[in-house]
Amino acid sequence: MFSTPYVLAFALLLSLPLLFLLAPRILPPRHLPISLPDELDDLALFRRASLASLHSSSTFSHLGTTNPQPKIAFLFLTNSDLKFAPLWEKFFKGNENLFNIYIHADPSSKINPPGGVFQDRFISAKKTQRASPTLISATRRLLATALLDDPFNSFFALISQHCIPLHSFRFAYHSLFASTPTESTTHSTRYGRQVKYRSFIEILSKEPGLWERYTARGNDVMLPEIPFERFRVGSQFFILTRRHALLVIRDRRLWRKFKLPCLKTESCYPEEHYFPTLLSMEDEKGCTKFTLTHVNWTGSVGGHPHTYRPAEVSPELVYRLRLSNSTYSYLFARKFLPDCLTPLLDIADTVIFRD
Ligand SMILES: *[C@@H]1O[C@H](CO)[C@@H](O)[C@H](O)[C@H]1NC(C)=O
Ligand SMILES: *[C@@H]1O[C@H](CO)[C@@H](O)[C@H](O)[C@H]1NC(C)=O
Repeated sequence: MFSTPYVLAFALLLSLPLLFLLAPRILPPRHLPISLPDELDDLALFRRASLASLHSSSTFSHLGTTNPQPKIAFLFLTNSDLKFAPLWEKFFKGNENLFNIYIHADPSSKINPPGGVFQDRFISAKKTQRASPTLISATRRLLATALLDDPFNSFFALISQHCIPLHSFRFAYHSLFASTPTESTTHSTRYGRQVKYRSFIEILSKEPGLWERYTARGNDVMLPEIPFERFRVGSQFFILTRRHALLVIRDRRLWRKFKLPCLKTESCYPEEHYFPTLLSMEDEKGCTKFTLTHVNWTGSVGGHPHTYRPAEVSPELVYRLRLSNSTYSYLFARKFLPDCLTPLLDIADTVIFRD
């Protein structure tokens, strides 16, 4: 016979692991602070990338291909496997001289290297967490590495593991490099005359909830650098020009504010504010103010957009997702469940890459 105290003690012991499982759901998520060594590492990297852009081309590390053609740098920001790697592989095939790939993968999650075009393209990465400035740091690390790696990286496209291409590489390349330049169309560089392209980054003001997001770090902490009237929001996924990539890694003024931890986690999305706010303050005319990555916010839950399931994948969906309100077609879309890979591959050659 067991006596009651023993049974109670045993039950208590059994419930302990349960407590550990449930704790993250009950307690508010703790913020991942950016340590001083991490911050200094980043500063050194940003300084090197910034200096390399000022000095002669001999200071470039040339880890990427040294083919002197304008390229798109694809910056994959992930904390899980790149499940759509086979689809991207098809996307990149045959365009070897026109792109470079860089992957920032959260080192705390075990990621299977996808090989192929992704082979050896992982950059030195640090832990990332949603609703914290670590996503800004990771993005800036990708930008700096790509700037440093190849002086011919001209556009920098941020992509997540949930993103898919909606067009062929050729289509994407030509729509970016044929895109409307700003009024001062060309400027001279050591590579000859260069067209001043615009960045494809969403920049919105007067959105609902903007004030809560502005005050997420406390009242008035963003002042004087960022008055509320200049605070902007936009999709995390953008395509920046080289000029703007440099501007972003050289910034220290706004970063000082955006790196502060949030007091209100439910309004904390630093990565959706830092880039649009900085670029709208520094060079609004140089930005299209819209993104080329489609996202569906209809019926979103907990800050996550609609996530497409395999049954939803069809040629019609691809055609629908390409449509935008601008003169540009959407080039990429998110979010898709990993299981969508098979139906997407089924329509890759006949639909997605046929344009
Ligand atoms: C967006 O998501 C909703 C469901 O949340 C769905 O009904 C709708 O068809 C989606 N729109 C597109 C363009 O896929
Ligand atoms: C285009 O703009 C209209 C009106 O602002 C909006 O309702 C619609 O959702 C937009 N469509 C796309 C594809 O962004």
